Amino acid sequence: MDTLKILSPGSGTGNDCAGLAIRPVLSRFLARCHADIAGETSGAIADYIPELKKADPSHFGISLATIDGYIYEVGDSAVPFTIQSISKAFVFALALETIGAERVESVIGVEPSGDAFNSIRLRADNRPFNAMINTGAIACSGLIYEAEGNGAFEHILDALGRFAGRKLSMDEAVFASERATGDRNRAIAYLLRNHAVIKGNVDDVLEVYFRQCSVLVTARDLAVMAATLANRGVNPVTGEQVVTPYVVARTLSVMTSSGMYDYAGEWIYRVGIPAKSGVGGGILAALPSQLGLGTYSPLLDSHGNSVRGLKMCEALSSRFDLHVLNRSGDVRTCIVAAYDIGGISSRRNRQPHERQILDDRHEDSRVFELIGALSFGTAEYLSRRLAETRQQSQFVILDFRRVPTITKAAVQLLADSLADLTAGQVTVILCGMEQTSTVGAAIDPWIESMPKIRKFALLDEAIEWVEDQIIYRYGGYVRLEETTGLREQALLAGLGDDDIEALASLMEQRTYHAGQRIIAAGDTASSLFFLRSGMVSVKLPSGARLATLQAGMVVGEMALLEGHRSADVWADTFVQCFELPLDAYSGFRGQHPQIGERIVRNLAILLANRLILANTKIELLTSY
Ligand code: DON
Repeated sequence: MDTLKILSPGSGTGNDCAGLAIRPVLSRFLARCHADIAGETSGAIADYIPELKKADPSHFGISLATIDGYIYEVGDSAVPFTIQSISKAFVFALALETIGAERVESVIGVEPSGDAFNSIRLRADNRPFNAMINTGAIACSGLIYEAEGNGAFEHILDALGRFAGRKLSMDEAVFASERATGDRNRAIAYLLRNHAVIKGNVDDVLEVYFRQCSVLVTARDLAVMAATLANRGVNPVTGEQVVTPYVVARTLSVMTSSGMYDYAGEWIYRVGIPAKSGVGGGILAALPSQLGLGTYSPLLDSHGNSVRGLKMCEALSSRFDLHVLNRSGDVRTCIVAAYDIGGISSRRNRQPHERQILDDRHEDSRVFELIGALSFGTAEYLSRRLAETRQQSQFVILDFRRVPTITKAAVQLLADSLADLTAGQVTVILCGMEQTSTVGAAIDPWIESMPKIRKFALLDEAIEWVEDQIIYRYGGYVRLEETTGLREQALLAGLGDDDIEALASLMEQRTYHAGQRIIAAGDTASSLFFLRSGMVSVKLPSGARLATLQAGMVVGEMALLEGHRSADVWADTFVQCFELPLDAYSGFRGQHPQIGERIVRNLAILLANRLILANTKIELLTSY
């Protein structure tokens, strides 16, 4: 987790002044905003809760957290203050998550009231308008109290801490001060009990509410809490799924329509980011899929919103065009590359006749490399692209390695598309989904009963499998046990039978069992291996496969050019081969220079073909 803290621009006291040059560009903008807005002194500190009067009007902190966990901080971002009404959004989310939407929605509305936060007015059915104003918030605390009893506040404190990514505590003095002066809220609570919106002892419910409002946070905490909402309920610092995307969407909806009270309309029009403010001076704003912002400055306007906080949010939104309803996503970008296996083949080196079949039948396959979070729009576009392949393709590969998340809607659309494809002649291959991936977990239940769906971890393996199927279907399959002679070796192409006989006399026959290592990376390169039967894979020490070779191919040939092995070679099956020791070969080459020259030229041809293949892949992937 990266953090950048700028105590105040030009102060030279921040621990990164030395690193000014490497400050991310956004930090300079935030620092400038802080400098510009700090001079704003209009507004007043809340005093209807006396303890709040002690706040320092000069305090001003800004923090911005991105959904990948990077945190910016400027000014008084670490100064603690009480969360007050900002707690309402998270207690509403907690109630939806733990008590359930049906019960919560039966008690509390989701309509903006257009009134001030402490309005006593209820809807015509004597229900609170929404959970962002005191009536609805006290009702929400009441629901938590009903469910958790005396553990209600601890339950709330724990949840607020999971949103903030750290254990939070409460300001006893503010709590006592509000409890002593909270008559208006008492009036609200008794009105709610009168209409059976809250049950049980009113003071117990108010105790929970006053305590939740008195929880201490910083601007940085608010930024992380907001980023958790922006990141579909996953805390970007701790990685914990605190609430479900369903709850996030409902919470952000009510924050959008009611989070800034009777300024909500103006706010969503001008700033356009779901937000929540508190009389302690905090403002929290959550921009879905992008960032969370937290500001602290106790000087409030007539609506009870922090003056400097408002200005900061407006400056950031207008400067970077962050209005939530101004989205520029283009669904077509969800496909980062689409091609057939003629363009990109697997790392399995193929026999010439196999290569011919694949070149002739490459249109039998289609590969879609996907990227980004899949949602309704992108899945709808993908479903039309997949439908286009029905007539042409026998194999469709979908690679999800660059897809971090997928929404339920996208899963449903995709599943219907795959059902259509597999109902026809198409076999669908899914790859790039780690065992632990949420995408795999979301898709699996929908496809487990579908015929003709295969799954592979790696795209390369998926392409190799399709190649095998096509080769098999067009009669090119060669049993791996079948042996080939040295005459079929590409590296020995053009040599006469006598030359090959002479070379063979220098070689040792070797056999290896499946899983045995033939060559180890880093070892001295002292021989070449001509494969007679079986299959071997060249792998980096990390396990990444570079190539798979079979009978008629040579492995370890780079020994002719390099002194040490750059990769491991493992037997994938039982392998028979000829080992040609380099020393013996060097002696032989000294006596037969033209054979040596021929072999080096063949090696150059082999390497050139690999280069052409690699360039084709790059060209295809960069041209899409
Ligand atoms: O109930 C109250 O009045 C306070 N505990 C919370 C009010 C509040 O934060 C309003 N926000 N602007």
